[in-house]
Amino acid sequence: MLRVDREPSLNIACVGAGYVGGPTCAVIAHKCAHHRVTVVDISEERIAAWNSDELPIYEAGLSDIVKECKGRNLFFSTDVDGAINEADIIFLAVNTPTKANGVGAGFASDLTYLEAAVRRVVKVARRSKILVEKSTVPCRTAESIAQVAAANARPGVHFQVLSNPEFLAEGTAIHDLLHPDRILIGCMPTEDGLKAQELLTNIYAKWIPRKKIIGMHLWSSELAKLAANALLAQRVSSINAISAICEAVGADVGEVATACGQDSRIGPHFLTASVGFGGSCFRKDILNLVYLSNALKLPQVAKYWEQVNLMNEYQQHRFSKRILAALFNTISDKHIAVLGFAFKKGTSDSRESPAINVVSDLLSEGANIRIHDCKVPSKQIFRDLACSLANGRGSVEVCETPYQAAMNAHALVILTDWADYQTLDYKAIYCSMSKPAYLFDGRSIVDEQEVRQIGFDVHIIGRARERSLPRLYQNVLADSRAVV
Ligand code: NAD
Ligand code: UDX
Repeated sequence: MLRVDREPSLNIACVGAGYVGGPTCAVIAHKCAHHRVTVVDISEERIAAWNSDELPIYEAGLSDIVKECKGRNLFFSTDVDGAINEADIIFLAVNTPTKANGVGAGFASDLTYLEAAVRRVVKVARRSKILVEKSTVPCRTAESIAQVAAANARPGVHFQVLSNPEFLAEGTAIHDLLHPDRILIGCMPTEDGLKAQELLTNIYAKWIPRKKIIGMHLWSSELAKLAANALLAQRVSSINAISAICEAVGADVGEVATACGQDSRIGPHFLTASVGFGGSCFRKDILNLVYLSNALKLPQVAKYWEQVNLMNEYQQHRFSKRILAALFNTISDKHIAVLGFAFKKGTSDSRESPAINVVSDLLSEGANIRIHDCKVPSKQIFRDLACSLANGRGSVEVCETPYQAAMNAHALVILTDWADYQTLDYKAIYCSMSKPAYLFDGRSIVDEQEVRQIGFDVHIIGRARERSLPRLYQNVLADSRAVV
């Protein structure tokens, strides 16, 4: 049976030093100085970066916390076995990407990394431990973890598996970890399961009000993570679907979103129309939900959620088509300046960024693209575009400043909502560009009046270029009146 002291000083290990493992453990170490937290990874490069002054990820506030705790009660190491052996509680925060091959390819989660981590823990552990599922996983993965653990554990060694999904959003990770809306801790409702849940609750209770720490069954906790991401992504796809209608009828999606968001039942969050959602989670977790629904013989449920991803892809390609159409359907050899490559502001992460699809579309038309981003390293941009560049059409250059990117460009395309892009000297940019100078804003961040007055031909997501009824729609209305 697991021992739970009142104020134990715990050894906490975390397998996986990525976007989740690193910041989460840094905050635990920061808030629980009496616990020793060791984050391990098989990637020597990642651990070396955590141990340097150049952390492997950018998050506001992260480096200060790491600086304060590193070497005190926070350690980053490649000694996976050593950390496992010493730990009382082990967070599993490895990557769970979409399967690339085999059964369920393109939908199911690839649990290779998770299973490898579990097998390693079980092989090495000489005493009982709590395993905490931090990674996002399909429902009932905890059951598989418990089975693998039970089948391979040394005699007398037991593992309690908890589900403790992470809800941090990149760009605001430290704020989200310090002030979460809620913490879920799923367990099996057994005596040992509930004790393990209590122990993890006590760690979080050091800085999070207990009423926000919600205990529930393992399966509910696992599914709640997928459901939350699916609902958030669904809101973005819903407002993006409305944005297409707005562009067609001359409405303004910002106004429509404000009108809807004022309804307290709907609420204002996650209603900003955009060139599409990106990030490592939304698409992957919806694919996971689609796979799960199909596996459970619920094809209508699967189709329902799949549409959220399909709408997102449609939105990205729709934006590329709007650029192409405005530039007289020919952008071969034209210079296009792209501002923003990260999937959202505040992060250096470009995983699943809409910029990848939009730039790839423009490259396939033969455009020469100059990209600026505030945080994404140029080698990552080239990695993301390697397949599209292999086609040999168009070119990509990464620029130090937005002004360099815009020099002599035919069009300026905003793909990330970096605050810096709101305060650029658009007059100077306009003067340096080829004329007519086009501005395509996929994030609704520019002041439309101002840039129009400067002389730009402005196209903003979810807004028609002219507020008067477009001719196409006038014809549709005339037709429908004729029918009546
Ligand atoms: P990541 O790719 O940034 O980090 C995962 C790390 O795990 C990598 O550094 C990898 O080297 C390491 N790893 C893999 N197998 C290992 C093993 N056997 N032993 C030791 N280290 C190993 O991934 P991430 O973005 O931190 O996501 C981790 C999990 O958290 C995923 O399931 C993801 O869906 C979920 N999640 C991510 C976010 C986010 O914003 N990124 C938010 C919530 C949940
Ligand atoms: C998401 C979830 O929010 C978080 O709880 C979970 O733990 C991980 O997945 P993240 O992907 O980091 O977090 O960022 P998020 O803020 O959710 O944005 C996702 C994408 O949606 C971004 O590309 C963002 O620009 C886009 N988005 C978001 C919109 O286009 N409009 C909105 O109104 C909100």
